[in-house]
Amino acid sequence: MIIAKTITETRKIIAHAHTTGKSIGLVPTMGALHDGHLSLIRACRTQCDYTVVSIFVNPTQFGPNEDCDRYPRTFDADSAACEKLNVDLIFAPDTNEMYPQQNLTWIIPEKLGDHLCGASRPGFFRGVCTVVSKLFHIIQPDVAYFGRKDAQQLAVIRHMVADLNFPVEIRPIDTVREPDGLAMSSRNAYLTPEQRIQASCLYQALTLARDLITAGQKNPDTIIQALKKRIENQPDTKIDYISIVDNDLMHPVSTIDAPVTIALAVHLGPARLIDNIMVDPNSQKP
Ligand code: PAF
Repeated sequence: MIIAKTITETRKIIAHAHTTGKSIGLVPTMGALHDGHLSLIRACRTQCDYTVVSIFVNPTQFGPNEDCDRYPRTFDADSAACEKLNVDLIFAPDTNEMYPQQNLTWIIPEKLGDHLCGASRPGFFRGVCTVVSKLFHIIQPDVAYFGRKDAQQLAVIRHMVADLNFPVEIRPIDTVREPDGLAMSSRNAYLTPEQRIQASCLYQALTLARDLITAGQKNPDTIIQALKKRIENQPDTKIDYISIVDNDLMHPVSTIDAPVTIALAVHLGPARLIDNIMVDPNSQKP
């Protein structure tokens, strides 16, 4: 496994892999790898000839009062995990390598990125789209893997790739969960043991929504109220949003008669956790 820290070196290695006709898969990450990332890497390893994992805590997707500085950085453990999974290349630039000058050119996803997480984290998707397109230019992957846990990010990236004609296929991978249903996330590390127990209420709320829809409930507001109650039962929670949205533009629906995503973001102590599930009201009748 090669660890490359510069764009020049990475381009050379990738150019060589391309000349040997290998399909290149990219798993973009900010490090602090957990089982969710590892399932993306495993999919990439089985489906592509050459696996690249990027590890870069991208400062442009964090707001001024967010957790960029304290975001967990665990490079040694991350590279050991990648090595174990036979990753071919880790691209691990520093901030200066990725942003050597004041960045003046941005990719902004407009109405896909201004609600849900985009409303609570202004500039977040501008930073994500810009860094992901830089990674696509540097690594030129045939396939890139993104987790369904970040459903809005996945939708934004899919549209960016289509709108800007990136020659890359986006493959979504299912959310990996702890035994109590909590979605794996690098930010789970911020939780105290007590908050960690409370955190299972997110998935409980999502499964409650699925049960209500399966039972025939079509009114999003009724479902959202029930979810609020379930989450606010836990003392350290503060709801950022709960929304029932369509699966493409992720805009709120007024009635549930087609497949939807139930998406939520909840502050739990020092962590802001997001999760979602997709529900098809027509295929889940008991
Ligand atoms: O999902 C993430 O970890 C990040 O948003 C990404 C896609 C690696 C861009 O920095």
